[in-house]
Formats: sequence, structure tokens, C-alpha cells
Amino acid sequence: MAMTPMPSIVLDCDPGHDDAFALIVAAKFTNLLGVTTVAGNAPLELTTRNARIILDLCGSSAPLHSGANGPLVQPPVFADYVHGKSGMDGAVLPEPSRPADSTQAIDFIIDTVRAHDDVWLVPTGPLTNISLALTRAPDLARRIKGISLMGGGRVGNRTPTAEFNIWLDPEAAATVFMSGVPITMAGLHLTHEFQASPERIVMVEHSHATLGPLLAGLLRFFSGTYVNRHFGFVGAAMHDVCSVLALTHPWLFTTSQKWVGVDLHGNHTRGMTVIDDRQLVDRPIANTTMLETIDADAGFAAIVEAVRACP
Ligand code: RIB
Ligand code: CA
Repeated sequence: MAMTPMPSIVLDCDPGHDDAFALIVAAKFTNLLGVTTVAGNAPLELTTRNARIILDLCGSSAPLHSGANGPLVQPPVFADYVHGKSGMDGAVLPEPSRPADSTQAIDFIIDTVRAHDDVWLVPTGPLTNISLALTRAPDLARRIKGISLMGGGRVGNRTPTAEFNIWLDPEAAATVFMSGVPITMAGLHLTHEFQASPERIVMVEHSHATLGPLLAGLLRFFSGTYVNRHFGFVGAAMHDVCSVLALTHPWLFTTSQKWVGVDLHGNHTRGMTVIDDRQLVDRPIANTTMLETIDADAGFAAIVEAVRACP
């Protein structure tokens, strides 16, 4: 059976433990044209440092460019209560081999989309960089193959209605969802089904002589904060990996076609992704492929395969 070509992607991230595993899976299963970083889980300096460390560990030579150090409108807020002060606590990590290749993530995204056909943008943090690229270069919306993002959902986490990535920069998210670019959305109702259980962490731990224990340490820290802060969780939700797997392993998911908008002004709903689930024939045209379910065991097997492929 002819292998389908690997998707060409730019991964825009805020590592962050789950971003780190999204990077490792992307390095294995995609044509990773580049990585851009944004402030989110941690300040930009740390998310960029963490991205370089992970690229080093998985032996990727993908270019790395840092981007926005805060949201378009509201002041930055970080998630050290989930990811720790470094943004990726839980293991003794090597020093990064070198800094980012530039601080010009927006220009890198624009130039890469203009230079290559069928590029997917895969944002796994706040959508600030993506929004700035779409605004600075309106021609991108016609060239981008799609945006496979982690964000939003039918439930919130930072607030009862808003998920962190969208909540931190709702103006950027609104621009992205209204851009006309095809969206694939990994929302919390999906990503909460993809948890790093103790058994799955052991699988990662045994998947690579040197990286396995290090990555298992990251997952145990990340899962510790999740299990302590939630009822009914057995491990951390591996949110961001879903946005990569949606492109590399689409058969793991069920999906639906939905219209999605982003609320900006509600007292209790600012940053909420409003999903039109109505069964009406006459409803807004869908702008989003909504990931609804995942084969979590197979998804974790893909993570293990990607870790095993590291040098
Ligand atoms: O709400 C989960 C999202 O926020 C994930 O992308 C996680 O890495 C954090 O950025
Ligand atoms: Ca993230």
C-alpha cells in the first residue's frame, strides 16, 4: 500500500509538557518545516528554550524561531501551576544546543507558507503568532492547507467556559476561526480522553534507554499536577499531541463538521469557543472539523514509536 506523504507542517507551540510530546511526534511523522514559539504556558524565553531542548533530544534540525511574547490585547498570564517554573519541570534537562535561529516567527510562517504548497499550521498554544501572520499577509488564507489547532472545546479549563490557549488570546483566536482557513480543532472534550496514565508513562519510560526515563519524569510531574487538580483523572491530558496525530494518524479519530466562533465580550464566556451543535438544516456553514473521539491506546503507541525513533 502506497504510503501517504507526510504532512508538511509548521508547529507553533508553548512548551509545555504536552507541546514537547507534540514536537517529538511531529519530528517522527511529519515533514517538519519549522517550529515557532509563543508565550503561553511559560514566558517566551522559556518556551523557546524548551522547544530547542526537545528538538535537540529528538535529533531534529528543523529551524526554530521565536514569536510573540504576549497576547494581542490582554496582559500575559502563564501556567506555571501546571507546567512548573521552567515550563517543563520534572526532569534534569540538557542545556539547549543553541538559541532560536531568529526572533521572527511571523515572517518565518509567512515565508514558509508562500514557499511551499499544502502547508499545515499546527498551533498548540495561544494563537497570537498565527493571527499576526494572517493579518500581516492576507494572501496566506488562500495558501494554507489548514490549521490543526489545540484549543477550545465544549468545556473550559481556565474558566468554566474557556480553554487556556483560547482564553489567553481570544482576539487572536477569533481572527483565526473567522479567517476562512479550514480548521481542525482538538478541544478539551477530546483531549481529556487522551491521558498519560501510569501504565502509559511506563511504556514511554521503557521505549528508549536514555530518553525514556527523562520523558517519563516529565510526564509524572505533568500528571501529578493534573491528578491533584482534577476529579477522575488518571494522568495528564496530552492535549497538543492530538493536533499532530489528527494529521499523521487521522484514522484514530471520529470527527464532525461544525461552525465555531470565539466569544470576546461575555462576563463568563470571554474566550469560549461557541460550537454550533444544533441539528438545524439552516445553520451557519461549518468552518471546523471537530475531533470528537480518539483511540487513546493507539495514539499513545504512536508517541512511544516516535520516542523510540529518537537518536
Ligand atoms: O488547555 C491546554 C492547552 O494549554 C495545552 O496546549 C497546554 O500545553 C497549554 O498550552
Ligand atoms: Ca500548549
